[in-house]
Amino acid sequence: MFVVAMMLTSCTSGQNKTLAAPDDQGETNLSETVTELIMSRRSIRQYKDQAISRDTLDQILKCGINAPNGMNRQSWEIRVIDNPALVQEISDVVVAQNPKMGERPNFKNIFSNAPCVIFIGWDSRYDMSQIDCGLLGENIILSAWSMGIGTCCLGGAPRMMKDTPAAAPYIERLGFSEGFELLYAIGLGYPDETPDAKPRDESKIKYVE
Ligand SMILES: Cc1cc2nc3c(=O)[nH]c(=O)nc-3n(C[C@H](O)[C@H](O)[C@H](O)COP(=O)(O)O)c2cc1C
Repeated sequence: MFVVAMMLTSCTSGQNKTLAAPDDQGETNLSETVTELIMSRRSIRQYKDQAISRDTLDQILKCGINAPNGMNRQSWEIRVIDNPALVQEISDVVVAQNPKMGERPNFKNIFSNAPCVIFIGWDSRYDMSQIDCGLLGENIILSAWSMGIGTCCLGGAPRMMKDTPAAAPYIERLGFSEGFELLYAIGLGYPDETPDAKPRDESKIKYVE
């Protein structure tokens, strides 16, 4: 993991660096490392009681905003809640209106139990914004994993927040700019489980001759 972190976060130590594309001779390890990183990632839903430092979060988020994006408009806004008590407060408000959710096994909070949550807002005036936000998220997820931090992409929790009138003040508190709306979230934390890989359907891939 350490080697991966060194390779993938070089852009985050200060100014972005422009690196030559890896060549076939010298950089085989980079390809293997990135492939291993991608293939070993799993969604995590059980976390240790261990905070992620702000320095580490900053590195992850800088990797996030270096994702490809339409016309470099960077049509995203990112809000981070790394205070577990506030995460719990939001969850409690939603669960109060959906009590069945709290009865699920191992339930801690609506963010698939994550102690830290990144909320991503999209620019509803730009038709490519959701693509930008998705790519941003994958950079965040893979960068986090390279540092041993587990993540879970979360569509359900933001939807529940929007559907729960009592959660409106918390969405307001995220403070997205005019035209931006909460799209999805990413839960993060140090993993306390090692889930098996879920199967993938390779028949979805077809070459067109
Ligand atoms: C758009 C999107 C929404 C998701 N929403 C949730 C969610 O609300 N709760 C959750 O626990 N996982 C959620 N996931 C995680 C998926 O369930 C998970 O990525 C998928 O089952 C594949 O498993 P893997 O990530 O371990 O490979 C979401 C993933 C994506 C991409």
